[in-house]
Amino acid sequence: MGKPFEKITVIGTGTLGTQIALLAANAGYDVTIYDVREGAFSETFDRLRSSIEAKGIAPMIPWDQLDAIQGEIRQVTDLEEAVGNADLVVESVPEDLEIKQDVFKKLGKKAPPKAIFATNSSSMPISRMEESSGRPEKCLNTHFYNILEGMNMADVMGGTRTTQDVIEQGIAWVRSMGCIPLTVKKELLGFCFNRVWRAIKREALWMWGNDFVDFRDVDRAWMNFTKMKMGPFGLMDGVGLDVIHAIEMVYYDESGDPKDKPPKALKEKVEGGGLGVKSGRGFYTYPDPEFTRPDFLDPSA
Ligand SMILES: NC(=O)c1ccc[n+]([C@@H]2O[C@H](COP(=O)([O-])OP(=O)(O)OC[C@H]3O[C@@H](n4cnc5c(N)ncnc54)[C@H](O)[C@@H]3O)[C@@H](O)[C@H]2O)c1
Repeated sequence: MGKPFEKITVIGTGTLGTQIALLAANAGYDVTIYDVREGAFSETFDRLRSSIEAKGIAPMIPWDQLDAIQGEIRQVTDLEEAVGNADLVVESVPEDLEIKQDVFKKLGKKAPPKAIFATNSSSMPISRMEESSGRPEKCLNTHFYNILEGMNMADVMGGTRTTQDVIEQGIAWVRSMGCIPLTVKKELLGFCFNRVWRAIKREALWMWGNDFVDFRDVDRAWMNFTKMKMGPFGLMDGVGLDVIHAIEMVYYDESGDPKDKPPKALKEKVEGGGLGVKSGRGFYTYPDPEFTRPDFLDPSA
């Protein structure tokens, strides 16, 4: 299908919104961004840069190109102006249903009728937001991962009334940005790969939260087993522990299973300002986390 849209607006330029905006601009889309917090985009951009550099990962788009791409993105402080001409609006605000529903309601009023709405939610099916938009047939989930770090994939899932044409445009959009679409054929909490990742997170958090293991050992084992540069706890720090807690609560609220409830210690960490990479400390401290040091996997250390 090639490029299904021309103008894309990203709402919320934190960890994920910033990456989506950059990747879309890199793919040649005309990108506008909007965030309630002034400076969110440039702050996140700088933070992503130092975090990716510290991890020793080559970003999906080289930084020297990203600097130029960053300059092409239009930042707007008025929501109406931000979405006024959009073909696709991508919502990437915090993982809170009320905030998301409120954003969808505003988008429904301010975006042109042609515009398709996608949520980047990590856990919530679009069916929980579609009604607020007033155009459920044009709403879908497109859930991206940490794309700049090379996780170039996105779960794509429709809601209760999403048309096949909108799903296909969503898939084409994901592909046009160099990402692999992971299509979910019917509604599933957690989508495709995020559900697999979630099973790992739940077990890792449960073992740590109940004091069975040191989180570093889980990461050491994972790094040794998969040859990845970090383990589940390092990855969770990158996502943001507030985001992780909110996501785990979505699963717990759905199932009511006590094993799904995120450990108290995680909530305490978040309440104490330990949000992970974005606050400089979470399970590890940044910008120089222990797992990047040569002795982390040294059997004799
Ligand atoms: N962090 C990750 O690794 C990750 C991965 C995949 C998906 N997600 C999902 O992406 C979404 C965003 O997560 P994040 O980690 O980027 O969060 P974040 O906290 O880093 O960023 C959220 C941004 O939204 C802004 N915001 C808040 N309310 C707003 C509003 N009403 N309108 C416009 N902007 C608003 C905030 O100022 C902030 O800049 C969540 O749904 C999350 O579950 C996150």
